[in-house]
Amino acid sequence: MEHQVKSASGRLGILLPGMGAVATTFIAGVEAIKRGISQPIGSLTQMGNIRIGKRTENLNPLIKDFVPLANLNDIVFGGWDLYDDNVFKSAVNAEVLEPGLLYAIRSELEAIKPMKAVFDKAYVKNLKGTHVKEAASKYDLALALMDDMRTFQEERGCDRLVVVWCGSTEVYTETSEVHATLANFEHGLLNNDPRIAPSMIYAYAALRLGVPFANGAPNLTVDIPALVELAKKNGVAISGKDFKTGQTLMKTILAPGLQARALGIRGWFSSNILGNRDGLVLDDPDNFKTKEVSKLGVLEDILRPENNPELYGNIYHKVRINYYPPHGDNKESWDNIDIYGWLGYQMQIKINFLCRDSILAAPIVLDLALFTDLAQRAGMTGIQEWLSFYYKSPQTAEGLRPEHDIFKQLIKLQNTLRHMMGEDLITHLGLDYYQELVEGL
Ligand SMILES: NC(=O)c1ccc[n+]([C@@H]2O[C@H](COP(=O)([O-])OP(=O)(O)OC[C@H]3O[C@@H](n4cnc5c(N)ncnc54)[C@H](O)[C@@H]3O)[C@@H](O)[C@H]2O)c1
Repeated sequence: MEHQVKSASGRLGILLPGMGAVATTFIAGVEAIKRGISQPIGSLTQMGNIRIGKRTENLNPLIKDFVPLANLNDIVFGGWDLYDDNVFKSAVNAEVLEPGLLYAIRSELEAIKPMKAVFDKAYVKNLKGTHVKEAASKYDLALALMDDMRTFQEERGCDRLVVVWCGSTEVYTETSEVHATLANFEHGLLNNDPRIAPSMIYAYAALRLGVPFANGAPNLTVDIPALVELAKKNGVAISGKDFKTGQTLMKTILAPGLQARALGIRGWFSSNILGNRDGLVLDDPDNFKTKEVSKLGVLEDILRPENNPELYGNIYHKVRINYYPPHGDNKESWDNIDIYGWLGYQMQIKINFLCRDSILAAPIVLDLALFTDLAQRAGMTGIQEWLSFYYKSPQTAEGLRPEHDIFKQLIKLQNTLRHMMGEDLITHLGLDYYQELVEGL
């Protein structure tokens, strides 16, 4: 397959619908890294290694030296928001990064100004937008977004584009007939069907232009049959949903470990307090519902209670998110986990994670943008399940259970990279080392 991966040379435009805390922390981070002020910690594409061949060969190159990825110096940023603050102002407001760092890269950040958003208050009740496009129909809004993308590409001299949704979480919606086929969806766009969310209009516009799309929020967006159909038709890579950071990251590290040792789980109570704009949006019950569904699926999919009812058939799993302004972006989460071991004896695990939401999310945005661009250049179109590693609620083919175990997700990701480059996949069987030794005697 290696010969099929097109070169990464040229400029990559990363377009972000939603230029709030995550997006600005990502952009400012990349600019600081380019200047040599900071390091891309938490990013697999920049700092991760991958083993090639047998353990005895001792080959562990950096991922970025193994697969052709866009260079950070070739990246340009753009995006949309319903507030017209430039990225510097928005980053200062988000209060994630220190002013000293932001002032060092002020001119680069001030130069990035959001384009007018496609927004519908019915989907994000706690925000009031002023910097918003107006058009007669949702179809016209999609055309306007396509114009934005083309103009950006031309003006900034980009060879390729990729879109990563960093906008607010939209209210909970389920797939309905307007989402079922591309024809229905396009009909719905023309008729202003209220079931078509703004994020879907961005995704439609990108896919129409052959621009790949990754979704960092739990809203459906590209995870509807109509847009999967369009992605296949136009040969475009898509993935989602919901960046896996903070508490869910911990859950998908810990739960597979407990299960691996056949320990029982009786209850898992997860509580969060956070005070950023994301927290404000999630304070609305309909928006929280979207996040709750995304967070709750994780344990059930890892533990598969139906396969092992003695250990996991009776779990009480609860997730709460509370808006608490004094904490800003520094989310605090508590997990109480009731487990049981040998002969049913009970134990408890308590986790108190004082995390920084956007600090955990920013490297995910970078990796998703670079890997999605890689997939596109490798001719891998449609749903990119190998990027599940980055998501709380991975998008999969219809009828396929998502894989949530972070270690299996990593194996899948690394094997996909090996596959792209024509290297042997690693099964971790390892018997060959011992057979060779025996044969050598
Ligand atoms: N930070 C994390 O750890 C994390 C993890 C998983 C998912 N997420 C998701 O990532 C998204 C961004 O998080 P954040 O902390 O940056 O939130 P934020 O509120 O700081 O930023 C979101 C931005 O999106 C804008 N927006 C909303 N609707 C829009 C639209 N239709 N078009 C353009 N812009 C729009 C808002 O004005 C806001 O500036 C949220 O959906 C959040 O749930 C974040």
